[in-house]
Amino acid sequence: MDAVSIIRAKRDGGVLTDAQIDWVLDSYVRREVAEEQMAALAMAICWRGMDRREIARWTAAMIDSGRRAVLSGLDRPTVDKHSTGGVGDKITLVLTPLVAACGAAVPQLSGRGLGHTGGTLDKLESIPGWRSDLTKNQFEAQLRSVGAVVAAAGPDLAPADARLYALRDVTGTVESVPLIAASIMSKKIAEGTGALVLDVKVGSGAFMKTLPDARELAETMVALGTDSGVRTSALLTDMATPLGLAAGNALEVAEAVEVLAGGGPADVVELTLALAREMLDLVGLPVDPADVLADGRAMDCWRRMVQAQGGDPDAALPAAAERHEVLAPAAGVLTEVDAFAVGLAAWRCGAGRVRKEDPVSAGAGVTLRQQRGATVHAGDVLAVLHADDPARFGGALEALAEAFTIGGGTGEKLPLVIERVGG
Ligand code: URA
Repeated sequence: MDAVSIIRAKRDGGVLTDAQIDWVLDSYVRREVAEEQMAALAMAICWRGMDRREIARWTAAMIDSGRRAVLSGLDRPTVDKHSTGGVGDKITLVLTPLVAACGAAVPQLSGRGLGHTGGTLDKLESIPGWRSDLTKNQFEAQLRSVGAVVAAAGPDLAPADARLYALRDVTGTVESVPLIAASIMSKKIAEGTGALVLDVKVGSGAFMKTLPDARELAETMVALGTDSGVRTSALLTDMATPLGLAAGNALEVAEAVEVLAGGGPADVVELTLALAREMLDLVGLPVDPADVLADGRAMDCWRRMVQAQGGDPDAALPAAAERHEVLAPAAGVLTEVDAFAVGLAAWRCGAGRVRKEDPVSAGAGVTLRQQRGATVHAGDVLAVLHADDPARFGGALEALAEAFTIGGGTGEKLPLVIERVGG
């Protein structure tokens, strides 16, 4: 077998055999297939696609490139959530302790932010003392004692995906349903969870800009999970506008803590409860998460989860040194607050990174003062930019130039939870 004939077969619209898929991924991990060959194959897959059998085999081969964890010795069912990534998406921070406080075990292996969407680990690392690098034994022990753990994936979790994702990121080959589905599901299946809820985002701030593309991604991932013995369902949710009012690491932690304390923006609460109900349904726990959020049990679990990983839940969160207000140029109804533009502005303020080894600023980001649908007056503060260096405000303001649409109507909008996919 050789890489060039596999690339040619896919380039010309062919269907790869199981043996070709196993060979090319195994040889890539062993560095016998060169980066440029894998890049060419990824581009061919972007153009030609893969059928369901190819995607399932590609996923299985990526799982087999590392270890598939078995989460044993737990007295409760395991269930995880994965979001395809959006702006202001701090749901994991609230959902993980909430669902654990409802009686499930939530094993979250998360990543860092790249581009305009934030990463859960970057957000949690803004809490003084908190660390993400747990050993397998520490991870499992915390899952038993607290029921909730958010940690970095180790190098043995689908290592083929780690290399391939980095390559796709720099070769314009991220946006492919088969490659995204296989990438996400190989990690989630290898993590060892018994059930999984996918939050597939749709809109300007998401990978999937249209509903048909998001639906196809959700259906592909649900089928991959189910066929691998993981009970899986998906919610398609709106990412045309940011979630909540905060985008940026410590800013989002602060907003998540507000929700855990019984307050916070209504959209963050709504989505958290919708995902929690879906997770609890999958594992057959008839508990109302709204009660567990309201009576403080979710907050107690958050505190234990943060402390178990060295963090101080009472410590002041870092704040950026400089602020800049963005004012409404006219009066009217805020018919649009564009998620991508706000994510880009937060990133340019210093909340995100360009290369994966770059540091992030814990305090940087954007806080919105108004959400889509609000009535504003000329001169009202629409948003506040936060940065350590005021030189960053120019680029962030440029990103926000078209972000706010002020009009006369009420604005068209999709519901927050658009649709459910799954058995
Ligand atoms: N997230 C992943 O883990 N992989 C992708 O391909 C896209 C988003």
